[in-house]
Amino acid sequence: MDFKRHIASRIRAEGLSEEDVYAMIELPPNTEMGDFALPCFRLAKAMRKAPALIAQQIAAEYPTDEIVGEVSAVNGYVNFKIDRALWSKQTLEAVLSAREKYGSGEDGKGKTVCIEYSSVNIAKPFHIGHLSSTVIGSALYKLHKFLGYPSVAINHLGDYGTQFGKLISAYKRWGSREEIEKGGLRALNALYVRFHEEAEKDPSLEDEARAFFKKIEEKDEESVQLFEWFKELTLKDVGRIYDLLDVHFDSWAGESFYIDKMQPVIDELREKGLLVESEGAQIVDLSAYDMPPCLVLRSDGASLYATRDLAAAIYRKETYDFYKSLYVVAYQQNLHFKQFFKVLELMGKEWAKDLVHVAYGMVSLEEGSMSSRRGRVVYLEDVINKCIEKARGIIAEKNPSLENKDEIAKTVGVGAVIFGALYNNKIKDITFSYDKVLNFEGETSCYVQYTCARANSVLEKGGAARACEAKEVCPQEFELVKQLAEFPAMLRDALDKYEPCFIARYAVDLAQKFNKFYFDCSILNAEEQTRAFRLALTEATLVVLKNALSLLGIGVPEKM
Ligand code: ARG
Repeated sequence: MDFKRHIASRIRAEGLSEEDVYAMIELPPNTEMGDFALPCFRLAKAMRKAPALIAQQIAAEYPTDEIVGEVSAVNGYVNFKIDRALWSKQTLEAVLSAREKYGSGEDGKGKTVCIEYSSVNIAKPFHIGHLSSTVIGSALYKLHKFLGYPSVAINHLGDYGTQFGKLISAYKRWGSREEIEKGGLRALNALYVRFHEEAEKDPSLEDEARAFFKKIEEKDEESVQLFEWFKELTLKDVGRIYDLLDVHFDSWAGESFYIDKMQPVIDELREKGLLVESEGAQIVDLSAYDMPPCLVLRSDGASLYATRDLAAAIYRKETYDFYKSLYVVAYQQNLHFKQFFKVLELMGKEWAKDLVHVAYGMVSLEEGSMSSRRGRVVYLEDVINKCIEKARGIIAEKNPSLENKDEIAKTVGVGAVIFGALYNNKIKDITFSYDKVLNFEGETSCYVQYTCARANSVLEKGGAARACEAKEVCPQEFELVKQLAEFPAMLRDALDKYEPCFIARYAVDLAQKFNKFYFDCSILNAEEQTRAFRLALTEATLVVLKNALSLLGIGVPEKM
């Protein structure tokens, strides 16, 4: 039952459709006044009346029934009071029948969404800077699937560019196969760092690197083999991290995938008169849009990052016929995305409007920033492992007799990393702090997980009795019910705004409301019917907390 819909369908307001009214109905923060409210300030102009008068008129005309029993007008708001027992019953029934599907839907039927995220660079460290793209993108992917959008998760690997020439040169000079096999990504990165140190002393190394890169492009066997080997090693290393974070991809088509797909794009740009020569390079002039030009071909004929993105966008449209195509990439690249989106628009691709750059802020560690050239890098895997280690310590202290401590420490530690990167609005820069993300009393995943363990233990002691009906619903219970009822709408809001942090915040809110209920109301010692209702409420809370965390890629231990 959609109470907002019920109310909206029964309100008559001059010049407003039911949809308009529906969109204006709010959940007031203070439930004393009402459970739903319609603010009348925006109606004043159209209806040529003071908001307070409009509110009075709407309240007087509203036909109350068994669902909405009380309507009042206060200071320009119409307040509606819902039958709480009915609302609770419907909500609990909805949650407990749908369970892990509660909140899901077919909203996206037939609307394919491409979601590009993580997009790590081959032979470069998977560092903490890639964390946000990875966890925000993965949550958006899971959320889209949950709401019925056919979704394609794409890892646009950075597997093309002169750095591979540098690596080959460094490998041939100073590397050994055994060392690299053993050290993986870190050993490759060490070679990369060494190359830059040596090239500062001997600039001719840069020419050597360029020559090697050219060899890759010309498909020289040895160079291509080395390059493929570097790629394989990197994917093995990052695969471990993706497994830990429960992150998955449907396509691994990286930049090199588009090598043979760029020429048609360049031809099309030329045909449409969009390419101009500038200092030997081929560019698209974007000065009319207050942007620097988009570089398509370098003076030596080499393609650029934007060229591959143009080819990739077109390929994705042709292959998936997307409804939307998202790019979860740091805001440092804002200009790049604006530029190549504009170029596609100028090419007459009407679908360019369906491309979305989902930008997010930087994550840094308390210790300070990093640079992959200098080797001052914070590896994400180290951060995750440190979180797991710390979680293990906390758990051992809190609950020394717990079974499966290792498994639980992993779930808690990984959750802390994901939640830590997700909790803020995505555009904010954040500083990652181990103590903050592992604070059991804070706004953290371990607080939510701990609340789940508490609910589990109540249910275990409480037996099988459940009742979705209560004679009376107390304020703590009702706050919890309302929060549970909000879950489906919150998910849609998170999807519309590309903000997985809404889900994280929601989970913390729900956990807080449950804990208030848990401490204020006795569950196990209540009278039979109340006890069964409170057990149902506890179970519904657990179901929804798990659903929320699972959309973020976070597991829930039974016990903690
Ligand atoms: N590999 C790039 C980096 O690490 C991100 C790729 C972003 N995606 C894109 N389609 N340009 O900075």
